[in-house]
Amino acid sequence: MKKEITEFLYGGDYNPDQWPEDVWENDIALMKELNVNTVTLPVFSWANLQPAEDQFNFGWLDKVMDLLLANQINVIMATPTAAQPAWMSRKYPEMLPVDAQGRRHKHGARTNFCVNSPDYRRFSGQIAAKMAERYQSYPNLILWHISNEYGTYCYCDHCAQKFREWLQKRYGSIENLNHAWYTNFWGHTLYDWEDVVPPSHISSLIPNAFGNRDGATNQSVAVDYNRFMSDSFLSCMENEMAQIRKFTPDIPITTNLMGTFKPIDYFRLSEALDYVSWDNYPSIHDPASLIAFKHDLTRGLAKGKPFLLMEQTPNQQNWQPYNTLKRPGVMRLWSYQAVAHGANSVLFFQWRQSLGACEKYHAAMVPHAGHLNTRIGRELKELGDELATLDNGLLQATNRAKVAILFDWPNWWAAEYSSGPSKDINYVRIVHNYYRAFYKQNIPVDVVSAQADLVGYDIVVAPMLYMTSADLAARIKQFVTDGGVFVTTYFSGIANENDLVITGGYPGAFRDLLGIWVEETDALSPEMRNAVVAADGQNVLSGSYDCGIICDVIHTEGAKVLATFGQDFYAGQPAVTENQYGQGRAYYVATDSEEALLDELMGSICKLVQQEPVLAVPEGVEVTRRYADGAAFTFVLNHNATETTFSLPDGEHTDALRQAPISGDITLKGRDVLIFCTQIKG
Ligand code: GLA
Ligand code: ZN
Repeated sequence: MKKEITEFLYGGDYNPDQWPEDVWENDIALMKELNVNTVTLPVFSWANLQPAEDQFNFGWLDKVMDLLLANQINVIMATPTAAQPAWMSRKYPEMLPVDAQGRRHKHGARTNFCVNSPDYRRFSGQIAAKMAERYQSYPNLILWHISNEYGTYCYCDHCAQKFREWLQKRYGSIENLNHAWYTNFWGHTLYDWEDVVPPSHISSLIPNAFGNRDGATNQSVAVDYNRFMSDSFLSCMENEMAQIRKFTPDIPITTNLMGTFKPIDYFRLSEALDYVSWDNYPSIHDPASLIAFKHDLTRGLAKGKPFLLMEQTPNQQNWQPYNTLKRPGVMRLWSYQAVAHGANSVLFFQWRQSLGACEKYHAAMVPHAGHLNTRIGRELKELGDELATLDNGLLQATNRAKVAILFDWPNWWAAEYSSGPSKDINYVRIVHNYYRAFYKQNIPVDVVSAQADLVGYDIVVAPMLYMTSADLAARIKQFVTDGGVFVTTYFSGIANENDLVITGGYPGAFRDLLGIWVEETDALSPEMRNAVVAADGQNVLSGSYDCGIICDVIHTEGAKVLATFGQDFYAGQPAVTENQYGQGRAYYVATDSEEALLDELMGSICKLVQQEPVLAVPEGVEVTRRYADGAAFTFVLNHNATETTFSLPDGEHTDALRQAPISGDITLKGRDVLIFCTQIKG
């Protein structure tokens, strides 16, 4: 059994080794002022902890740990392995990664190591073990944090060798591999495992083939390399975890993820984690629905359990082209948005603003001014005080949803490596578009993996499920047979898990389920548009909607036509279809349409299966709910800059931030938050 985290975490990344010791007491005093109860350290301190191969220097960290313990501040202890010391890169240069252009990197960045390097694994395992041994008995050590934001791919000879071994395990024989990779094409037959070459810019990847996206001469190879790299990050992380567990088997372990981060299959990586955590850095123009989607994705990675918000900035960032300030109230609003979707922490990067290097103008809890008498300081104080009063019952409370949106990394890779139909294919964009249709109605959504159990959901949406295994297709069909509603789109069900086309007419995997045959697929250039026009004799869609990017030319084979295309040679042919299948229904949307179509279609589907909003509220107001034993916590987040009013449902509710009864009509200021608690049965 892992030790539970028993309080709501508030604090952030703490880098005391960037400061003289006499600042540390002041750090603690300011932490107390803000009600900070948790810090994450020492994320990038490997150089200071191991200044030479046979020399360790834990003295300073001992002092910091003692100071934090004496002041009852929790520690999320990070292994410092995201940046190896200079001596290590110098002495073991093969530890440095080789990039897609075939260049061996030099020392100087972070996450600048070959993920499969035996030397890196030996040293990272060693420092993890030393730290676990040394700090195992500190009662304020609540969580391990492995490395930091994994993500750098490597194409060195050692990785090539590891890739060959990985392929041997997956495919067994070179014949199977030749078949799975369709190597008869362009005479790419492999005679021996040695013939396998990692797909890079000097072999089979095509740099920026589609705008800023790489293409591939063989997508099957490219997708497998991404799978292999994901597994490499997993085993690299597990190498450190094994060392830590020798000393602290009961302390949970996490690593900080980044939401829709393309290089790593986070569903795969998360399998090994005790806690899933992530770093939330939206830009000022990101819609609230996109942030919500990433929180729900993170909760999906945690298999529905609460997760941690490991990092966000209290104010501006430094690495965006324009580092806008968080407007008053936005930091608090976005903090509660994380909690509303299942986070049990509000943690920041970073505690004290650095004086030098690239993050010196990134906001921190303590700014360069050195005190908290600032706009952000006051907002942080207010938030810290509020969080300290939150009911700990919330820690176990989980979100519940009857709608699942499928998100799959290998499918993302394959769809976007694809040479055709369009460079404007964008997986995250289309998944978010469907998510937003539910979000706007405040209908809760779970984001689930391709391996997830679909039983128990009323609606499963799989936007652009281009690549699907026979197993997934069978589970989706079973789900619909049993009464479920399934929604999918253009460029779905086309290829198997190796990116080989499923024969017999598109969308091969779902043709009978959807009751359609897609004969042709038209890719429109940006200035070409078409329209989706609601068909007569149906009551799902009512109008005409702008559409573009992709238009499928469809023949129905049993499906009912809900809408047709308005223009071009396929005018009048189906654009949106509905098919009865078993006890359920399957919908197909053959194009990329404006928001209104998805709002209406998802709205009708929700009515069909009696999915109701959590609460009726005006536009721009987000509502979610977390359920604990005997209580429900409802979060109302006003994303509008102006005030909003709505009515609470009948019954007794408590304002969870003010510990006072609350009822009737509520007025919420711009960017304000209400959390109310309601007693429930069961
Ligand atoms: C990431 C890192 C942090 C810091 C922040 C800055 O999330 O994990 O170390 O660099 O970005 O936004
Ligand atoms: Zn390598």
